[in-house]
Amino acid sequence: MHTRTATSKSGVIARYREYLPVTDSTPIISLGEGNTPLVFCPRLSERVGRAVFIKNEGINPTGSFKDRGMTVAVSKAMERKAKALICASTGNTSASAAAYAARAGITCAVVLPAGKIAIGKLLQAFACGAKIVALEGNFDDALRIVRELGEQRDLAVVNSINPDRIAGQKTAAFEVVDELGDAPDFHFLPVGNAGNITAYWAGYREYHARKKSAKLPAMIGFQAAGAAPIFYNRIVEKPETVASAIRIGNPASWKQACGAISESRGAIDLVSDEEILAAQNWLAQHEGIFVEPASAAPVAGLFKCRESKEAAYSIQKMPEESKIVCTVTGHGLKDPEIITAQMKKLRPVPVSVEEVRCALGL
Ligand code: F0G
Repeated sequence: MHTRTATSKSGVIARYREYLPVTDSTPIISLGEGNTPLVFCPRLSERVGRAVFIKNEGINPTGSFKDRGMTVAVSKAMERKAKALICASTGNTSASAAAYAARAGITCAVVLPAGKIAIGKLLQAFACGAKIVALEGNFDDALRIVRELGEQRDLAVVNSINPDRIAGQKTAAFEVVDELGDAPDFHFLPVGNAGNITAYWAGYREYHARKKSAKLPAMIGFQAAGAAPIFYNRIVEKPETVASAIRIGNPASWKQACGAISESRGAIDLVSDEEILAAQNWLAQHEGIFVEPASAAPVAGLFKCRESKEAAYSIQKMPEESKIVCTVTGHGLKDPEIITAQMKKLRPVPVSVEEVRCALGL
């Protein structure tokens, strides 16, 4: 087999090698992840009253931000000669792990909460040949089992409890700073298992320490109302939300997330399922960015900050010249179920210009 990947110029390890735990003996397993668009959003900015940029992590090889961490975690697992990869997942981690495992030529086992994985994500794990177990339990149960299996056998756990995942994911913060010329004032993102908020904060701090940025942003995280353990400061035994990616009641990086929020003088807040779905629709229809429900949580959060007195961090507290970056974590095509219901309205019309004109109401 050719070893072209070792000299690949694309991907987060090639771009940010000096910041990552890799050496010359690390085989680089990459699918060209990272370098995702940071898009200024005029209509969103107008509605919120501040300059808002979307960091679109759905534009990664498997359609979510997980690929940044997975390239590092799988490369390091290969270096350590792991027998197989294993992860628990609400969907995206398993899709990413399955793809990078296929690329590396190693077995990937995934443990998923039965019936709670968006169809597109499950499809990806199947397509890439993962060994899939559907668990009669939720994500928190799955992660507990994976942790135990990881200890007992020669398996590399590629959840975000693996520090290599966090190391890879912090490159998203580097990209934001490299593109804006400094850190933003506020960084909005969804919070589930809380690895990503931990990783962004680590990235911003590291770049700041290396004098690559003058500022540090306030980190503002959003959980779904039915799965908001950090907001309520207690474990949620039966988390429920339409945003299945963040249906988590006992986040692994809970403490680190609280550290990121308090050190950055940020906040944790929650948004309802209705607000999430409304924000998902709004973003697609006003900015052309179609994201999965979990990714719409921080967009719903932006609206809450602007429009609700109950917001944990009101827009009034954000100076007018502030720059806000909002990470959307996964592509909308992964989770089409709710939008598919709207397509049922479509009825065929006869082949006639008049009929088509009439049907379009033009
Ligand atoms: N957004 C999406 C689309 C996700 O898939 C996840 C997490 C998050 C946000 C939350 O990120 O866990 O770092 O706070 N998905 C994990 C998974 C749990 O298994 O795919 P986090």
